[in-house]
Amino acid sequence: MNRSKSVHRRTVLQAVAGTGVLLTLSPGLLLTGCDGGVKAVESETLGLDSDEYDVELNLHAMPDSVPILPGAPSEVWRYRAELLKGPKNTVSENPDSYLGPTIRLRHGQTVKIHIHNELPEDTTVHWHGLHVPSDVDGQPRLPIRPGETMTVGFEVLDRAGLFWYHSHAHGKQGGRVGFQSYAGLAGLLIVEDEEEADLKLPSGDNELLLVLQDRTFAGNNELVYMGRGMGSMMDRMHGFLGDRVLANGAPPTTRKVATGPYRIRVLNGSNARIYKLTWSDGRPVTVIGADGGLLQEPEDRPYAVLAPAQRLDIWVDLSESQPGDTLELISDRFQAGMMGGMGMMGSNALPLGSRFPLATLEVAKSVEASEPLPAQLGVQRQKIPVNRNTRIRSFELSPVMMRGFAMNGRRFDGTNVADDEKVRLGDTEIWEFHNSTPMPHPMHIHGLQFNVVGRRGGNSDSLQQGLVDSGWHDTVLVMPRETVQVAMKFERFDGLYIYHCHNMEHEDAGMMRYFQVQG
Ligand code: C2O
Ligand code: CU
Repeated sequence: MNRSKSVHRRTVLQAVAGTGVLLTLSPGLLLTGCDGGVKAVESETLGLDSDEYDVELNLHAMPDSVPILPGAPSEVWRYRAELLKGPKNTVSENPDSYLGPTIRLRHGQTVKIHIHNELPEDTTVHWHGLHVPSDVDGQPRLPIRPGETMTVGFEVLDRAGLFWYHSHAHGKQGGRVGFQSYAGLAGLLIVEDEEEADLKLPSGDNELLLVLQDRTFAGNNELVYMGRGMGSMMDRMHGFLGDRVLANGAPPTTRKVATGPYRIRVLNGSNARIYKLTWSDGRPVTVIGADGGLLQEPEDRPYAVLAPAQRLDIWVDLSESQPGDTLELISDRFQAGMMGGMGMMGSNALPLGSRFPLATLEVAKSVEASEPLPAQLGVQRQKIPVNRNTRIRSFELSPVMMRGFAMNGRRFDGTNVADDEKVRLGDTEIWEFHNSTPMPHPMHIHGLQFNVVGRRGGNSDSLQQGLVDSGWHDTVLVMPRETVQVAMKFERFDGLYIYHCHNMEHEDAGMMRYFQVQG
């Protein structure tokens, strides 16, 4: 990047937008001193160490420049991969997008990944949703320094589902998750298994992957992130909202499809935006899966809510459509506490809860009818049994004057774990998040999938019917004033894990803590 030019543009931008600043991707923003870091050694493999792996790949985190909008390409940070060993379809690059390659794994595979940090600052790679050893989890305590390589090994223990990977760096000056993910460091990770394969769900051309993110661009297509001063304070409070939505790293497009059923697998990879998915013709949204894979049976909803980091698997049948018909996937209007108030967001061109299109399906040809949707889906993994004696651990989400949000009065404090953040390996617990803030918080727990036990007390009228609580989740949306209970079992791996709000600006400002699984 030409520095003098970028300084000039920043001045112009501030005069115009007031709050944003250009995303400066050139060196000079060095993040040093991730919390008390253990230094990565190239030769050692963290996690599963074995002589033989089914899959081996290189993953580079690097600066790049890609066309996103018409006109000049945008500077981004992104992942690139090379498959060294394993089935050919393990890695599919997204060459025209900043999104990382889609990584497709099978349950039971052993995987070795060499992560190369070619960025000018520390980074980590977190495999969001996967049940992996603590040292493989991409936590901020294990930063990869610029120019270094870290190798991780793990077995794919999860059932089939849509997962994702993204940066999780957090240094002495605060978190860099929001910045690095926004700059482009995120990609999809799909796990397949036999139970899912046997269901013969739409696949190949009939499986659509959709990553939803929002971004703001300056005049020459530079990405713009949080500002300083007042604007930054607002961004930190609410989370950063871009003024346009991107689908798979590009403005929403029309996809030519055929008649017949489609499986649409959606990730909310946004820093802070919540989506309310609806179909333009008013048909129900048929949800077949969530974060941790397929539901037991399909659920029809008037709309479906997707909070940051969450995934939804949606089935839609276009058998009745005629060539020429179109169907739009839309994010519909809603109110979500104080965040939804138009006034509160001031100058943002696309406030939280706005209505906008996400994708258009255009039927281009007719085909013979294919497989119907099975009435029973993922039934092999039983819900975690809980009863009146199950231990309940409560977390109060509360505001901290000018400094973001706390959990039980605590904010991120490196690897320090309080007594009530220690759990026992093998135990089943209910965690109860009580939101005493006026904003929704998507709460994420590392290293496992949980069941939602119930919710009470929220005032999420315009989202209520779209909260998918059945099935398996790693992130749950806790609405203002609401209390949500989730049940989980700490299995197989002891050590340090993290729980945090996945509004990335909340997380980066300290709404994140380590917890310890004691063996
Ligand atoms: Cu997707 Cu700790 O994060
Ligand atoms: Cu939050």
